[in-house]
Amino acid sequence: MFTRMNTLPVLRLAGLLAAVLLMSGCASESVMNWLVDGYKQSSLDVKSTDQGPDIMSLYTTFTWLSIVIFFIVEAVLIYAVVRFRKKKDQTGEPEQVHGNTRVEIAWTIAPALIVLFIAIPTIKTIFKLADMPQGDDVVKVRVVGKQWWWHFEYPELGIQTANELHLPVGRAAAFNIESDDVIHSFWFPQMGGKRDATPGHVNFMYFTPAEPGEYLGACAEYCGTSHANMRMKLIVHEEADFQAWVDRQKSVPAAVTADEHADARDAFMSNCAACHAVRGVAEFGRMGPDLTHFGDRTLFASGMFPSTTENLTKWLDDPQAMKPGALMQLPQELDEETIRSLVAFLQDLK
Ligand code: CUA
Repeated sequence: MFTRMNTLPVLRLAGLLAAVLLMSGCASESVMNWLVDGYKQSSLDVKSTDQGPDIMSLYTTFTWLSIVIFFIVEAVLIYAVVRFRKKKDQTGEPEQVHGNTRVEIAWTIAPALIVLFIAIPTIKTIFKLADMPQGDDVVKVRVVGKQWWWHFEYPELGIQTANELHLPVGRAAAFNIESDDVIHSFWFPQMGGKRDATPGHVNFMYFTPAEPGEYLGACAEYCGTSHANMRMKLIVHEEADFQAWVDRQKSVPAAVTADEHADARDAFMSNCAACHAVRGVAEFGRMGPDLTHFGDRTLFASGMFPSTTENLTKWLDDPQAMKPGALMQLPQELDEETIRSLVAFLQDLK
């Protein structure tokens, strides 16, 4: 008994250590970055007005309600266990009873009241969140979920981007959410609320970012091999910075006409243009993300990797090796020189 009691905690600690070592060994750089950034994905740390706080207040109310109910149920249970325990001198079965009208009525009414108490504020909030925000300052964004990345379009501004959503602080953003293939789910936890992206149907959602900063989001509906790699980033700007970003997106990057990228543009036309568009070079590719301002984005492959030369070189060599199931197909294997020039071109698309 003595040794058993001492070895158990030691074994447990050793097991835990082994698990941690194993996990850190397995975790790729991108997974580690994601874990470190995990706090940017907490739905309890709300950074939006309207949508976020409304849902948060339901959550807080019902959590406290559940705690109160838990203690009431446990108290009654403990009372019954103690009060009706087997007495020392008791033999045989206790008195058998069946049915008690008063108890039956009580335990029908009590849960009905609890459900009513939960339903009323929930339904009120659902209707409130279904109201489209009105006004000229609402930023309209069309969101299209695709295997496995996000397309963001600003119809009133005439710009589009991928995986990195930019919004101004304090202005409502209204989203029309669609899908091109299977069901995805659009979710920035700190903004509150999530909404499915369903093929053949437009879903609606809005939120108002309350603080400038960067927030992480992800697809929240299993959608195939790289579901876990369908991430996105929200960058909330001060108004002037947002306008500057919009102006930049409307402009055509210098790399599109620069002499130094002539070879890269040829390589882009023959290898990439069937699926990707770069305004001013080729604009018909719609399968993959629009790359016109690729150099402006900090991450690629739907928020998986920082857009470093090293990562992009690996990506153009073998996308599937970096992102399982990635639909990107190169028409031919690219030689080192072509990859080098394409990477430089992409990074210059600012
Ligand atoms: Cu898209 Cu999961």
